Amino acid sequence: MNTPGHLAPGLWRHPRNRTTQYTDLEYWTEMAKILEAGKIHSMFIADILGPYDVYKGPENMDPGLPGVAQLPIADPFLPIAAMAAVTKHLSFGITASTTYENPFLLARRFATLDHLTKGRVAWNAVTSHLESAAKNVGLEKQIAHDERYKIADEYLNLTYKLWESSWREDAVVKDETQYTVPGRVRRIDHKGEYFRSAGPLTTEPSTQRTPFIFQAGTSTAGKAFATKHAECMFLAGLEPTAVRKSVDDIRARAIQHGRDPNSIKTITGILVVVDETDEKAQAKWEDYLSYVDLEGAATLFGGWTGTDLSTFDEGEYFRFTGPGAIQSLVNSWTATVPGTEGLKWTRERVAQEIAIGGPHARAIGSPKTVADILERWVEESGIDGFNLSYAVAPGDFEDIVKYLLPELRSRGVFWDDYGASTTRENFLNDGLGPRLRDDHPGSQYKWAAEK
Ligand SMILES: Cc1cc2nc3c(=O)[nH]c(=O)nc-3n(C[C@H](O)[C@H](O)[C@H](O)COP(=O)(O)O)c2cc1C
Repeated sequence: MNTPGHLAPGLWRHPRNRTTQYTDLEYWTEMAKILEAGKIHSMFIADILGPYDVYKGPENMDPGLPGVAQLPIADPFLPIAAMAAVTKHLSFGITASTTYENPFLLARRFATLDHLTKGRVAWNAVTSHLESAAKNVGLEKQIAHDERYKIADEYLNLTYKLWESSWREDAVVKDETQYTVPGRVRRIDHKGEYFRSAGPLTTEPSTQRTPFIFQAGTSTAGKAFATKHAECMFLAGLEPTAVRKSVDDIRARAIQHGRDPNSIKTITGILVVVDETDEKAQAKWEDYLSYVDLEGAATLFGGWTGTDLSTFDEGEYFRFTGPGAIQSLVNSWTATVPGTEGLKWTRERVAQEIAIGGPHARAIGSPKTVADILERWVEESGIDGFNLSYAVAPGDFEDIVKYLLPELRSRGVFWDDYGASTTRENFLNDGLGPRLRDDHPGSQYKWAAEK
């Protein structure tokens, strides 16, 4: 996230952390160079459009301010061009909301960035879940959850038309007489339930046209949407067997949408803290923990789940009351994290558990220990990769490149180099080029050149 405190409230004060420099371009360009040196496929930038204000609420953002619970936060798009200028292969996954962004303007922005990065952008298409975001853009209250996904479905179809259908493949010729051939650019005349857009997209076709699509829906409506549109899905879960169920479910749903089940890549979030030895990594982790701000963690929890931890007394048994994904996570921690079986969940313990890295798994130890954990994850869950969380940046990524990747490479489970230089090609690795695959729903709008 473009914030000093993404998933580690309080850690902005850690002497090794440079996230407070998030307002400097150099912070971003250096991070991009570190990731590219490691041949990491993509930098993923999450985003929200309002403060977390459930904890000690309602509408109270104060508890998250001292530790930085994702406030302040800045626009995720703007650092990308600078990072693209200092890299050649690293991709950038950018979160943008289908509930609040105008589809024509967003399609134009992505197309422009796809040009400037030469095909290295992905869109994390989210429906957004914060009441505070709705109020920021002028709504009285949020649009209902399932309707947001209905809107999102039309939104994606509209943006596919703009990206894939406005410009014929051979529209731009740049010969001695003309830049663009008349008759090879057309309007899309979209008139839907929620949107109208005449088109054409005003941007000429870019390397990928449609950016590579990430999604992370977990509800019934969310999964239906994601398995139709996503090319890579984020799966939450602290435990491989639980994630295995999601992976199997996604593959089955992809088939129902007429898609190749392996064309949706699956990724799970994990926090990696690695050092030369288990002892050193453990000491690093404990040092990080000493900076945690539990008020900030409770603020994040409130924003994610709608449950206000302050309504529980100190030491009181925590019961998850509201709807949401985190309930199953709390249950799975109790059942699976060694040493916590039977442990009583209290508001303090819940906040502590998510305080660094959020509601994701952790791998802390020597290169061997961490590599064993990651390999077990892949084997048991069937996922394709990881979304790496961090306590301090870019320090934790430097450690991953320095300690972990050589171990993974020596085991033959991490690539030596990028396979290509566009997002779609690097993620799908199927030799089929940078454009949408034929079984993807956006492909029906492609306007091929006439022979
Ligand atoms: C790894 C990961 C990253 C996510 N990033 C964002 C984000 O940046 N912005 C956002 O509004 N939601 C984000 N989400 C939330 C999802 O988009 C989705 O709302 C959530 O998983 C609940 O699913 P549902 O919307 O189907 O109920 C993320 C979820 C996961 C697991």
